[in-house]
Amino acid sequence: MHNVRKVTEDLYWIGGNDRRLAKFEAHYPIPDGVSYNSYLLVDDKTVLFDTVDRAIEGQFIENIDFVLGDRKLDYIVVNHMEPDHCATLQVIADKYPEATIIGNAKTFNMIKQFFSFNCDCRCLVVKENDVFETANHSFKFVMAPMVHWPEVMVTFDEKTGMLFSADAFGSFKALNGNVFSDEINFERDWLDEARRYYTNIVGKYGMQVSNLFKKVENFDIKMILPLHGPIWRENISFIIEKYLKWASYEAEEDGVVIAYGSIYGNTANAAEILATKLAEKGMKNIKLYDVSVTHTSYILSDCFKYKNLVFAAATYNGGIFTYMENLLTELKVHNIQNKKIALIENGTWGPMAKKQMMELVKCFKKSEIIEDAVTIKSSMTDEQLNGLDIIADRILE
Ligand code: FEO
Repeated sequence: MHNVRKVTEDLYWIGGNDRRLAKFEAHYPIPDGVSYNSYLLVDDKTVLFDTVDRAIEGQFIENIDFVLGDRKLDYIVVNHMEPDHCATLQVIADKYPEATIIGNAKTFNMIKQFFSFNCDCRCLVVKENDVFETANHSFKFVMAPMVHWPEVMVTFDEKTGMLFSADAFGSFKALNGNVFSDEINFERDWLDEARRYYTNIVGKYGMQVSNLFKKVENFDIKMILPLHGPIWRENISFIIEKYLKWASYEAEEDGVVIAYGSIYGNTANAAEILATKLAEKGMKNIKLYDVSVTHTSYILSDCFKYKNLVFAAATYNGGIFTYMENLLTELKVHNIQNKKIALIENGTWGPMAKKQMMELVKCFKKSEIIEDAVTIKSSMTDEQLNGLDIIADRILE
């Protein structure tokens, strides 16, 4: 049975939710699911904005059939070719053979890589600032390369202020009937997952996100319609300001993330003591993570959020404890910047973690590394207590 919501007089949300998928992109845990948004315009022409993941294909087709009624589908706009949005494109293209597909040159290259149907005879190739009109809408196409793939574009309706934003402004979490951000407590219930989505999926491409903002800064945006998570029609400046902050790699709040990789508890002990010392000296917002327990995506998200980062790791096979090495590598490839960083290592006979962690954190741009790293040889002693005090003071400077 169809399950749709009316967004405006002539636009419908026709997406759906997946609450069974364990890991988005086979990588990121999504305990609260994810939504795949798609929108269908019923004007003098009918226009579908993106398709959905294969997981909700059946629901999607029922939704399209319901909204179209006896109309045919005239156009399909493909803002993003990643399979969480386009896996059902061929099914829809085959079902509506008269529909023209709108995309840019890169879009069609990818369609040919993913699918076998002939799109050359039914494509409308658009470029920057091209406009496509229906009776009551004037859709301008704005290229947004690497937000999150190279072919990404966003579509702005100059008549209504609707911005179909592709992955931008998206979030993990399934929608629960309330598809608008003003129907939920976004800051309380969604912001952390929106940040985790942004930092992990798009975080590497802050410069490209900033470039997109420069292109649309003079647009009179009245509604943001992302491909995941809620639609924004009120308080739009809230999510735009969050995105501007995230894209700039500036910390959102003062505070510290202490991530530790500990095999028998001694490195964990040092991390816990440092947290206590920081708290006693006045530090608020201390986030302590065991890297072998918490998935990297949550820690990475908080590393974007807070200014100070401490990495404490045991030496393992002559290198960095595996989960810590993974975290630091993820932070490096996600372009983390503007941090104050301290290191703690442990090693019973040949501590090597600090040297190798240093090589990775040196790649964090515009960051300050506190040189006074603490080396533990098996378990904490008074000497290392003093070292933790020095680190705490340097963080609080
Ligand atoms: Fe939601 Fe880049 O796909």
